[in-house]
Formats: sequence, structure tokens, C-alpha cells
Amino acid sequence: MMDDLSYERLRALLGQRPLRYAEQMSSTNDEAIAWALDGAPAGALVVADEQVTGRGRLGRTWYTPPGVALALSLILPPVPDRLLLPTLAGALAVARLAEAWGAQGVGIKWPNDVQVNGRKLCGILPEAAWSGGHLRAVVLGMGVNVRLSLAEMGDLAQTATNMEDVCGQRLDRARLVADLVALVEDVLSQPGAILAQWRACLTTLGRQVRVGSVVGLARDVDEDGALLIESSSGELVRVVAGDVHIGVA
Ligand code: BTN
Repeated sequence: MMDDLSYERLRALLGQRPLRYAEQMSSTNDEAIAWALDGAPAGALVVADEQVTGRGRLGRTWYTPPGVALALSLILPPVPDRLLLPTLAGALAVARLAEAWGAQGVGIKWPNDVQVNGRKLCGILPEAAWSGGHLRAVVLGMGVNVRLSLAEMGDLAQTATNMEDVCGQRLDRARLVADLVALVEDVLSQPGAILAQWRACLTTLGRQVRVGSVVGLARDVDEDGALLIESSSGELVRVVAGDVHIGVA
């Protein structure tokens, strides 16, 4: 089969958008931060086929094998209110992408894991590009599993899935990149609506959860996106980061 991801294919689908593509990259986020500090405009995009030292949430690594996934970083204008809206916009855009290509049962596990029937489809890592004490840009990193098989996923097979399985069709990665970037920008064009749209997609609310040492009912999120967990004693605990485990007694 013809390779579905290449500079030429991306260029044809992305028009004039500034683009850096490589078959192998350390981390698209690192490349995008460096490019943003070197003057790349908002809207510039970094894409890799294979990502060897990608970064995930909470200091984890995120390896992207060649030929099976999306690893991209979109440069956004600096936003004074931290990274919240880009993060939520990234999750919403991936959820819409999956739905647009036919997936059902798509939801978001707090804070930004897009899942289909409880299995993780992508990871999102926004990072800030600083220089001289100024925020120069926000880099929205997104990794989407397109066709990495369960066998190839090893330990993650229990908790992960991929776009082709949930959409029930062969997909073109260059097309997915172009669609995803357009969806992110579409969501970000109405910033006032993002928090409510994201909240409506959360599958975590109303469930018994554990995050770190906090156990209780996931009641709601606040205006900063923090998770509000009601403990058995009725106390409301605010959690800003961590992995949610569902259904703990
Ligand atoms: C997570 O841990 O869930 C977030 C993973 C984010 C991975 C993406 S892949 C593209 C971009 N470049 C990186 O180094 N990380 C992000």
C-alpha cells in the first residue's frame, strides 16, 4: 500500500500552513517549541511518522512506532490563562474526529483522555514555549493511535484502542492530520463554549473514582477544569492532576 503519511501528502492537504515533517523525530513537542522560539507563526504544524523520545503526561514517555499512529504538535498563540483551553480543545477535537469517521461511544476521561467504550485512543500534552520570561507560544501535542494492534501494544492492550478499529474502516493518516488540525482550530474559535462542551463529553462525572489518595464520587469540574470529588465524609476535594481510576469501592 502507498504510504499514507508523507511531506507531499500533508502539503497537498494543508495548503500554505507552515509545516515540518520527518519520518523520525525525537519529540514533535520539542521540535515545535524550538521552532516557535525561532519565530514560527501560530498555526505552524510539526508531524512525525515515528517519534522516539516523545513525552506523555506526568513525566511519562510516549513512543510512536512508524506507520501506525499520529504524532503532531500544533503551535498556538500564547494564551494568558495557562494551558487549559488548548488541552480541552485538543480532547474535543480528537473526539469529534473519531465520531466524524464513524466511531460510536466516544467520551473523554478526565482530564483529556479520549476513550471509546472506556479504552484510550489518544494522548494530549500541551506545553508552553517560554523565552526571556515571556510566553511565546503554546504547543499542543497530540498522539493518536490509528492502527497499532493490540498485540503490538503489550501492556496497554487492556486499556487502549485504535482509530481504525473504532471507526471500522481503513484510514488515511494525512487526511486525519488535516481534519484534526481544522477541528482544533474550529473548537478554539469559540473559546467561551469549550469548557461546557468538554464537560458534556466527560464520562468520569457521577462515577466512583480514585485519584491518588483521594477516593469518592466525581461530582463535577470547576471553571479551571479541576475535578471535584466528594469523599464518603461529604467533603469536596479539588484535584488538578492525576490518573483517574474508575469504580473503586
Ligand atoms: C499522555 O500521556 O496521555 C499524553 C501523550 C502525548 C503524546 C504526544 S505525541 C505528539 C506530542 N509530542 C510529544 O512528545 N508528546 C505529544
